[in-house]
Amino acid sequence: MTALLEIEDLRVHFPIKSGATFGRVTGHVRAVDGVSIDIRRGETLGLVGESGSGKTTLGRAVLRVVEPTDGRMTLHLDGRDVDIRALDRRGLRRIWRHMQLIFQDPYASLNPRMTVRDIIGESLLVNGIARGADLEARVVDIVRRCGLDAEHLGRYPHAFSGGQRQRISIARALVMRPEFIVCDEPISALDVSIQAQVLNLLKTLQEDLGLTYLFIAHDLAAVAYACDRVAVMYLGQIVELADTRDLYYTPKHPYTEALMSAIPVADPDAALRPVLLPGERPDPSNPPPGCRFHTRCRYADAKCRAEMPTLAPIGEGHRVACHYASVLKLAGAREHADKLANAPASARI
Ligand SMILES: Nc1ncnc2c1ncn2[C@@H]1O[C@H](COP(=O)(O)OP(=O)(O)OP(=O)(O)O)[C@@H](O)[C@H]1O
Ligand SMILES: [Mg+2]
Repeated sequence: MTALLEIEDLRVHFPIKSGATFGRVTGHVRAVDGVSIDIRRGETLGLVGESGSGKTTLGRAVLRVVEPTDGRMTLHLDGRDVDIRALDRRGLRRIWRHMQLIFQDPYASLNPRMTVRDIIGESLLVNGIARGADLEARVVDIVRRCGLDAEHLGRYPHAFSGGQRQRISIARALVMRPEFIVCDEPISALDVSIQAQVLNLLKTLQEDLGLTYLFIAHDLAAVAYACDRVAVMYLGQIVELADTRDLYYTPKHPYTEALMSAIPVADPDAALRPVLLPGERPDPSNPPPGCRFHTRCRYADAKCRAEMPTLAPIGEGHRVACHYASVLKLAGAREHADKLANAPASARI
């Protein structure tokens, strides 16, 4: 599979301003700190990691909704290579036809004073892509694909349930027929009973419209179900990247092992003994030297405290940033990975 998007050494550092000294910058939160990854055309790439690891920042930086501090991002579009960081405002608006975001909270992201027809049609109208009967036809088509009733287009968002609102958000993101969607926790805010429906909708739309997803999630069960590959993020960096099955069966990074062990399952016999992560998550404005995970890693030694490991290949399509990846025998979620793949539940990190 070819790359749709290449991300090289991407950094997003947020300045910390101290109020006492009139906004003097006293440090930086290194939310994303040297991420290199390819997103392949047609795949769903999962992005997991605990709260504050930089997932949302990475997803937004790719679209330049958040401005990167450094690095390169190249979008490969029908024979053209677009340098995303070089785009001016107009260029960006044009590229957003091809790249869109779906947010976690469908309540906050829909304008309550606009009808669903106007919410979904707005980008077509503003960008001069369609109007009149053509606009209506495109809105109706995407609304039906998203499992909504075209009869209800004149209603306002408050008239819809959480699941329906997320369908409206998805329709709004897809109406311009983008290729690439960043889905930032698209089902986390929904009732467990409708999470699977929305996941299935995203899958169907992907197949029908040839979409590529970056799927940000806390829910490792949903990730097992939805994703082809998974990247694990810790303190602004990718520490492991693998095909979903390999990641769940044979994790190579101690942090991934800890995440896997914490997946709750309905059957107590299938549960793994949780690997505890001692200590607090370090401050991303002052990350530990050496391997960023060493302060919480049960295998860490002097080398880990001194040298930062790089994300290096270990087997087919599998990469890991750990000095001892080839010697550690880590437990995967083998016992219930197959079950996870078949039944999206709500297992949270
Ligand atoms: N606009 C901002 N200004 C300053 N710091 C920020 C900003 N946005 C995010 N951060 C910080 O960057 C780090 C990464 O945040 P981010 O929201 O990307 O994490 P996340 O992995 O998406 O977390 P969650 O799982 O809770 O959504 C955090 O320490 C956060 O406080
Ligand atoms: Mg987030």
